[in-house]
Amino acid sequence: MSTLIESPHFPINEINEFSAGEKRGGGRPDFWEMVFWWTRKPLIGARSVIAGALVPSNFSPFEFKRLVRLWPETKSPHRENPSVSPRLKEHLSKVKLLDPFAGFGSIPLEAVRLGVGEVVAVELLPTAYVFLKAILEYPRERGERLVKDVERWGEWVLERLREDPDVKELYDEDVAVYIGSWEVKCPHCGRYTPLVGNWWLARVPERAGRAEEAEGEGEGEGEGEEVRSGAFRRLAWMAPYTSSSAVGIRVVDLNKELGLRGVRASVNARQGRVEASGRVYDVPRPNVDARRETATCLLCNNAIRGVGRKWYVKEALKEYNENLERYLRGEITMEDLLKSRARPRILVKVKIVGKELEFEPATSEDGEKLWKALKKLRGMWGDPDVPAEMFAPYQMGTAGALRITLWGFDKWYKLFNPRQLITLVKLVKLIREAGKKVEEEKLREGWSREEALKYAEAVTTYLAVALCKYADYSSVAAGWNQSLIMGHSLSMRGIAMIWNYNDIAPWVSWTGAYIRNLSTLTESLTFLVSAVSGSPSGVKVLLDDATVLSKLRDEKFDLIVTDPPYRDDVPYAELSDLYYVWLKRALSDVEESFGMMRLAPRFHKEAFFDDLGNEVEVQWKAFALREVSENEGRIQHFGVKGNAFNHFKSLLSESFKAMASKLKDDGLLVTYYAHTSPEAWEALLEAGWLSGKMRVAAAHAMATESTESVVARGKVRLDMSIVAVWRKGVEGEALVDEVYAKAVEACSKDAHEYRKAGLEGVNLFVAVLGKVLSHFTQYERLIGLKATDEPFVQNLVKNYIYPATAEAIVRSYGAVGARLSPPSMFYLLSKVLVSRRPRQARRVLDRTSATVLSIGTRSYLEGLEDQRIVQRERDSYVLLEPRWGAREPRDAIWDALTVRELNPREPRVRTAIDVLHLLEFYAITLPKEEFKRRADELRGRRPGLFDEAMALARALASGLPAGDPERELAENVVEALEPAGLGTLDSFIRR
Ligand SMILES: C[S@@+](CC[C@H](N)C(=O)[O-])C[C@H]1O[C@@H](n2cnc3c(N)ncnc32)[C@H](O)[C@@H]1O
Ligand SMILES: [Zn+2]
Repeated sequence: MSTLIESPHFPINEINEFSAGEKRGGGRPDFWEMVFWWTRKPLIGARSVIAGALVPSNFSPFEFKRLVRLWPETKSPHRENPSVSPRLKEHLSKVKLLDPFAGFGSIPLEAVRLGVGEVVAVELLPTAYVFLKAILEYPRERGERLVKDVERWGEWVLERLREDPDVKELYDEDVAVYIGSWEVKCPHCGRYTPLVGNWWLARVPERAGRAEEAEGEGEGEGEGEEVRSGAFRRLAWMAPYTSSSAVGIRVVDLNKELGLRGVRASVNARQGRVEASGRVYDVPRPNVDARRETATCLLCNNAIRGVGRKWYVKEALKEYNENLERYLRGEITMEDLLKSRARPRILVKVKIVGKELEFEPATSEDGEKLWKALKKLRGMWGDPDVPAEMFAPYQMGTAGALRITLWGFDKWYKLFNPRQLITLVKLVKLIREAGKKVEEEKLREGWSREEALKYAEAVTTYLAVALCKYADYSSVAAGWNQSLIMGHSLSMRGIAMIWNYNDIAPWVSWTGAYIRNLSTLTESLTFLVSAVSGSPSGVKVLLDDATVLSKLRDEKFDLIVTDPPYRDDVPYAELSDLYYVWLKRALSDVEESFGMMRLAPRFHKEAFFDDLGNEVEVQWKAFALREVSENEGRIQHFGVKGNAFNHFKSLLSESFKAMASKLKDDGLLVTYYAHTSPEAWEALLEAGWLSGKMRVAAAHAMATESTESVVARGKVRLDMSIVAVWRKGVEGEALVDEVYAKAVEACSKDAHEYRKAGLEGVNLFVAVLGKVLSHFTQYERLIGLKATDEPFVQNLVKNYIYPATAEAIVRSYGAVGARLSPPSMFYLLSKVLVSRRPRQARRVLDRTSATVLSIGTRSYLEGLEDQRIVQRERDSYVLLEPRWGAREPRDAIWDALTVRELNPREPRVRTAIDVLHLLEFYAITLPKEEFKRRADELRGRRPGLFDEAMALARALASGLPAGDPERELAENVVEALEPAGLGTLDSFIRR
């Protein structure tokens, strides 16, 4: 049975629109606030993919939208459960679905909401495994009561924490957040100068919307608009002042100073200039810049550089981190430690007064509190609840994950200042104790041992998840942000060195504080309970390796939907160790063994202890090499031969083999994949087609990651995610040129169907690419590929699949009369596939889009530059088309001739696009007879180019959106030169 997801009626436009809304702040699924995980997929997309793969291709699109709730009037379809008819319910209940790369569970969760009979979620990493249980299992099994108990025991934990004298004396009663940074001993004057990467405390425009927690792709420090005039709800910054021996911090708070709730001001953040109430204020410039490796002493104003290639500041931080460990081991005194060339420094205290924030300079007593905490830690040294595990000691990926290790933060406890650390450790102990109490309570109520333990596990898991979030938001790598959207340690694709960080009191209602995490947890849980509690699905969460799937044995699935990692995008194992080290402690017991305390199994023991009962120290040691990803540093560290990309490809291939072996013969596999670029397809085809022996049945472009790459009008890019639909059944062999010809022929009709269904831009491109692939991948062997140095799949993708896709789309626009040359195809496809962004004079093709189109049309970007068809601007390409926003169409085309260096009086014609633009110009400026004469002249001189230009004109006249200035220009040409009624080939194909 062919399914809806394989047909042109799969409503990808609507799905993408709602998916984009879901990724934006405010629209995010409630349970995502539980704790951060990378690259989570929008729920409505996952729901539509699953449902689309389970209903037949002739399923009414109207009914489908009702089923998944894709209605224009539904603002957030993912907040509502699908509406499954009784007949469909019956069908779905017989389906078995698997997601072997389940992550934070968008796909299995939606399968459960749809009522899929059996849902299996697999994850390699213990952290994700525990989170998946918290998402998929407990809310369904325990319902409302669980929410209440988590609330109750969360309060219990907090109350004990509040009473703990060790913790109490570390915080001022009224402080919500301490903003900390580092100070270094100046190599010139010998005094300590603070290092401040950003002096802003608050810069919040009046209508900035609700303060949201930053999701993964946040920019961290220094983001926000650079220049802005208008009303500000908050404007405050720090300013240093100096005495003979030290630097003090002053707070400038304009709202307070001017006595206004909203301040009208003009702010130039780059220059640090603020104008308000007729006065000009200077906000200090940062005195440290890690990227340039520069810093300035605020006392003597000397630049702090380094010796040779070693930057003084970095070396100083390393020294502190080393001395910290020596102090805790009892090898040096606190005095020695504080003589290190770097040390922590609290800059400002943030209080909540009424509904407003108040900033106060930190005092020397505030510093003292940190030293007090240090002393307590010293007394605790050896306690297994202090996480002394190693960070992964290698560098990873392009994002520079774990760059902070280069500063001497080599063990997890060093990621927290002494106060943060004490509080986290105390929370571990209290959560552990709460777990015991829950169990005792249940036993007293007469539950069986097993049941009581299981229930305690559920409640304790949530208390520990809230702890993970707290550790993420309150660390020396969690950045203070002037937009008051709190940064967190994992907000980049790695853990980076930053300066101003948040040190958050656990009991104050503040993003990331333990108490707040408990209350968001209640919301998350309430959502999850309402999403899954009525579902008839059976759910299983497994800790397993997707490249092997050893725990599944002989099980076969009707549907596998999954979202494997993309190359070097995220080093999951190493980064989520930040959670692992806390989760493991809060969910395990402690016991004495040979006079030493150590962790002992209690909850989720399969996640934290191996088969022999040994503690799994950190995830990176146990799992990094099995994580499907490309990671140079990693494979070098573990001594794996070969290059990282091949390592990734072979793991991806293994996982496709494993999936194919678990798929029923008539089953469907649907994979998400992060890019539409040719390289991405190469890896995917090697894995799915060559190794998995599956053929592509269809593909779609999906909005999944940042809103930037979303298909909204005017924002089309070709680097979206792809969803590929695979089927079993690859056999025989064929001549590649014959397949090519057939594919172009058939797919131009598909392209037409997709366009009729409303697809455009990248959606259209990927959908047609999917259909082209279905022709090529049905064979086990393709023969007669032209000889190149490229590996087989690369050769196929670049020289056959992309060109066939481009040609099929061009043909669907009717431009078949004349065979179009590569530059003409490039121009046409850029015009019909890429939208202009608002306010831009011309279409701009980002790098990926330009590459995709140049490969598809077999043209060369340098050549296109020489022919003045595109103009390179840094990393993108401007299409030199008639200008948008001109007063008259003739200005639009005149402008194009000018930038294209084409003189209409004595034109030197290079390409058909030159002829086209000349014709467009003549048609609008010359009297009809004169125009015809000029056109004939051009035809006589360059007959081939002339025919091509006319084919282009027809395609543009029919294919461009109404707002495009070239549409009218092309129409003029066609009308004047072609007998009326001939119509476009577009309508020809339709007949
Ligand atoms: C792109 S994420 C999945 C995100 C998920 N779809 C969501 O919406 O939250 C990929 C996941 O695959 C997991 N993973 C990586 N290698 C794996 C392997 N060999 N077996 C199982 N899972 C693996 C990673 O830990 C990561 O959570
Ligand atoms: Zn100095």
